[in-house]
Amino acid sequence: MADRAEIRFVKLEMPKAGSAVVLTDEKLALGPAATALGEAAGGRFARAAMAAKFEGKPMKSIQLLAPAGVELDRVVFVGMGDLEKLKPQDWLKLGGTIPSAAAGEAEVTVLLQLPAGDISAEQAANVALGISLRSYSFDKYKTKKKNDEAPKPRIFALAVQDPKSASKAWNAARAVADGVAVARDLVNEPANTLGPVEFADQLGDLSALGVEVEVLGEDALRDHKMGALLGVAQGSERPPRVVILRWKGGRDKDTPVAFVGKGVVFDSGGISIKPAAGMEDMKGDMGGAAAVAGLFHALAARKAKVNAIGIVGLVENMVDGKAQRPGDVVTSMSGQTIEVINTDAEGRLVLADILTYIQRNEKPAAIIDLATLTGAIIVALGNHHAGLFSNNDELADDLLKAGRETGEKVWRMPLGPEYDKLIDSKIADMKNTGGRHAGSVTAAQFLQRFIENDTPWAHIDVAGTAMGSPAHETNQSWGSGYGVRLLDEFLRARYERK
Ligand code: BES
Ligand code: MN
Ligand code: ZN
Repeated sequence: MADRAEIRFVKLEMPKAGSAVVLTDEKLALGPAATALGEAAGGRFARAAMAAKFEGKPMKSIQLLAPAGVELDRVVFVGMGDLEKLKPQDWLKLGGTIPSAAAGEAEVTVLLQLPAGDISAEQAANVALGISLRSYSFDKYKTKKKNDEAPKPRIFALAVQDPKSASKAWNAARAVADGVAVARDLVNEPANTLGPVEFADQLGDLSALGVEVEVLGEDALRDHKMGALLGVAQGSERPPRVVILRWKGGRDKDTPVAFVGKGVVFDSGGISIKPAAGMEDMKGDMGGAAAVAGLFHALAARKAKVNAIGIVGLVENMVDGKAQRPGDVVTSMSGQTIEVINTDAEGRLVLADILTYIQRNEKPAAIIDLATLTGAIIVALGNHHAGLFSNNDELADDLLKAGRETGEKVWRMPLGPEYDKLIDSKIADMKNTGGRHAGSVTAAQFLQRFIENDTPWAHIDVAGTAMGSPAHETNQSWGSGYGVRLLDEFLRARYERK
């Protein structure tokens, strides 16, 4: 895992050296602890900030050098805007702002106090989470360090009223931060070093945290008659894997929720080959599986009181003499036959079989799949929402809510028989593409044909959010780790806060 920040909680006191971050509103008022410092400096910090036209706007910051007579080197003002309008998300954003606001400092003390008073342990933990998410960088392949880089990991001392309860809240949040980093690392890792076997091996590490890990090799996949998944895999030198994860933190009698991830370690398109420009991004076509991996890391590390099962289909979609052709017909594990019109619509073929497997073997209470499934979802929603498709309004609403809570937003898209018709095939039960229109919807309709007995199911198309989304306060990495926080919050709200 890449180096991140080192975070500790300390008592609310002004540090004697180094650099301090203080929070301010639009009137440049400070909390009690920081006010003492301001007075010691004869009010010069606030005057300097005002002279620089700093207005305390949300997440804006200014670095001020300490005048003579003050022990500190620097004070950084971070604006919180109108304190009446603070939302829970703002604490996470504040955390995301701090590492750059205090750029260049190896050790930073943050006075987590508002003019109106102290902040809660949960709020402090959210600030820590923001710092940790922001501090991630994938630099394992950089052999040269820049001169001006602060030594890593940087140390952030968060000064709060009650360090003990803040640390406790941070312990759970840190599990989630680590889960996000696991997902980001997997997405960022190139495909030459992360094939299906290597991915499966890495999932094996989760057993150290108490996750049950079961790996199905090629023979097992053949025994289970996963013809759709194997059709995709047959064009690659590297054999496929399916990995099942089980986390039992809930009561024995509670049926688990299933999380299903598309894990195409590289998607060349196969014989329906993709254009060269941007093809390198297809190392990230396992973003769904990476989110499932990160989620299970988070659940196990924070000992979540839920029962969850995960399944990922790990394959490589390549061009080869043995690769499947457009026009081939494959028989899926469900028994349904599929005419492969376009070998680049491979994700749905992989998901079809693992959806069948998990339903027949585990009878989950609900199923949520994540997949970098269609370019069309990027056309529809850009990088700011993932596409949500569901046969169940309550499940969809819970996911929409978790999206708003975490900022990992989803937007609901339609399903319906008119769309389903578009994937009827002349010679098989269905075909794997539905034509130019509504490409994300016909992909979801395809998946729905593998949902049995109306099991509550949601499909989240993360093609626009798992990778390549614009950098923001809490993510500077190409692989965003999208989905880990969304699903962690979904489970907390649905099962743990009751
Ligand atoms: N992995 C791609 C979708 C994708 C595109 C993910 C861009 C991330 C960024 C998927 O396997 C794919 O190729 N889908 C095709 C489907 C089409 C052939 C029906 C697409 O979107 O063009
Ligand atoms: Mn594809
Ligand atoms: Zn793909």
